[in-house]
Amino acid sequence: MPRLSIIVGSNRPGSNGLPVGSWLLRRASEREPFGEVGLVDLAEVGLPFLDEPEHPSTGRYRYQHTRNWSALIDASDAFLVVLPMYNGGYGAALKNALDFLYAEWRDKPVALVSYSAGASGGAPAAEALRPVLERLGMRLTGEPVALPGIDELVDGEAGFRPTPAIVAALDALLDEVTAVAVAGSGSGSGSGRR
Ligand SMILES: Cc1cc2nc3c(=O)[nH]c(=O)nc-3n(C[C@H](O)[C@H](O)[C@H](O)COP(=O)(O)O)c2cc1C
Repeated sequence: MPRLSIIVGSNRPGSNGLPVGSWLLRRASEREPFGEVGLVDLAEVGLPFLDEPEHPSTGRYRYQHTRNWSALIDASDAFLVVLPMYNGGYGAALKNALDFLYAEWRDKPVALVSYSAGASGGAPAAEALRPVLERLGMRLTGEPVALPGIDELVDGEAGFRPTPAIVAALDALLDEVTAVAVAGSGSGSGSGRR
């Protein structure tokens, strides 16, 4: 059974992405087809800025933090990336985490949930991320969901409180990534670099 990793693509203390990711974790965990669903908080992963001397496509990693990150991503069959918009684009922590690896991302389905304080919901950040994911050989799945006015949707105590329309959009995205992950799970995943 496939493993879904929900990556919170922000490492800002107090990030709004964490409550959104936690909500998605609960929602996705209720779905039969996933053997395992995990939350990957980039703040917790704590990668430095890319410090490997060799190109990630070689898979030759000098540092343990890279090997740990490689093992986590290699063991995942599908991804849901929750990303904030910073100044019209995606944040550096997410790009850095993506750039650390190469083959581990390849051919795996990825769905995007963006958020921002403003009315766009971070849609431009998701759009900007698209060519990066394509370059890594990932398969963008479903229409990215944008969450506008994130500060009103996230409550310090109650967490993420989506509107019914947002719940429907997120459920549809989960359906899509579930279907693609299950369809691909027979073909064998993993880069073999453990
Ligand atoms: C550096 C930075 C840049 C931001 N730029 C934008 C922006 O261009 N448009 C927008 O609507 N909100 C912007 N915001 C607000 C964020 O989208 C919002 O605070 C969101 O919660 C940030 O994600 P985070 O909580 O994971 O850090 C920005 C916030 C930060 C910290």
